Amino acid sequence: MAYAEGGSIVIIESDRSRRSDARATGRYAIEAHGLTKSYGKPAVRVLDGIDLGVERSTVFALLGPNGAGKTTAVRILATLTAADSGTARVAGYDIVAERDRVRRSISLTGQFAAVDETQTGEENLRMMARLTGLSRSAARRRAEELLIRFDLTDAARRQARTYSGGMRRRLDLAAGLVGSPEPGVFFLDEPTTGLDPRSRQQLWQVVRGLAERGATVLLTTQYLEEADQLADRIAVLNKGRIVAEGTADSLKSRIAGHRLDLVLTSREAYLRLAGRAVHHSPETLTLGLPTDGTAAHVRALLDEIDPARTEVARLTVHSATLDDVFLALTTEVPAHV
Ligand SMILES: Nc1ncnc2c1ncn2[C@@H]1O[C@H](COP(=O)(O)OP(=O)(O)O)[C@@H](O)[C@H]1O
Ligand SMILES: [Mg+2]
Repeated sequence: MAYAEGGSIVIIESDRSRRSDARATGRYAIEAHGLTKSYGKPAVRVLDGIDLGVERSTVFALLGPNGAGKTTAVRILATLTAADSGTARVAGYDIVAERDRVRRSISLTGQFAAVDETQTGEENLRMMARLTGLSRSAARRRAEELLIRFDLTDAARRQARTYSGGMRRRLDLAAGLVGSPEPGVFFLDEPTTGLDPRSRQQLWQVVRGLAERGATVLLTTQYLEEADQLADRIAVLNKGRIVAEGTADSLKSRIAGHRLDLVLTSREAYLRLAGRAVHHSPETLTLGLPTDGTAAHVRALLDEIDPARTEVARLTVHSATLDDVFLALTTEVPAHV
């Protein structure tokens, strides 16, 4: 099966009978414990024991910089790569002991490789629907439905090879849904990497649509904004470890929720206070300090830092962004400059 960096893998539960399977009706659609993976000689540890729990019908973002191990984690969960240790269940099935069940549940999906570039979007979807056992007329209806749902009606009669990146990814997603009951489990590995802002927005809509229909989505992204926009929960992956996990808001509140940015009047003041800052901008003599954002706290902080009222030139208070969280978690913030 073809797999491309930055592409998407679609995994769907394809067996309707599975819905009544008790194992598949648990709280988690994806569950992983202590997954590790090393590559090369000498071995470099790419995943260093990761735990994941993705509740059914939620969107979960695995957020991390390039090389963090996101694709490796997705490939393991999709049974394309074996973990060195650890266990995981997807859609209720063990990825090793019941690998065939997991595999079988993804085999009917229109992954990348399944889309025929020389056929139109419509032909592709109809053909795949036929392959899943639908009658000719049912396949036509299903294709039409999916073209509408994924906003591909205008492109329906064009060869897939002429599609833009955004259209192509929507076609891949549509192909993955063709003959399957919903809800399903989706793994989207950097689904919007390389897309222009408008295509990215469209894909976000599609992902939201999947979740609204009850699907479980695990997506990987390097974009904080994307995780913030789409995900019910976010795990920040850095160097093969999950360094934080929670809702976007809970992650933001980990660094006090708000940031008081102070523009200082001298380099001496800057250096004196740098150690307690979570944000540093030496060029502008600006430091960001954590605060709860209340007037009382900001006032107390100012009095404490600058009792003579000579060292702070200007200030701004703003909500902590996911960027703040992400940077704090994935880079070593210098205490001093
Ligand atoms: N098949 C492989 N062989 C050797 N090293 C690999 C292989 N796949 C990934 N890696 C390495 O593992 C690390 C994590 O890669 P990856 O999971 O692709 O990260 P991400 O998707 O977060 O960018 C990288 O340093 C990468 O070079
Ligand atoms: Mg990757």
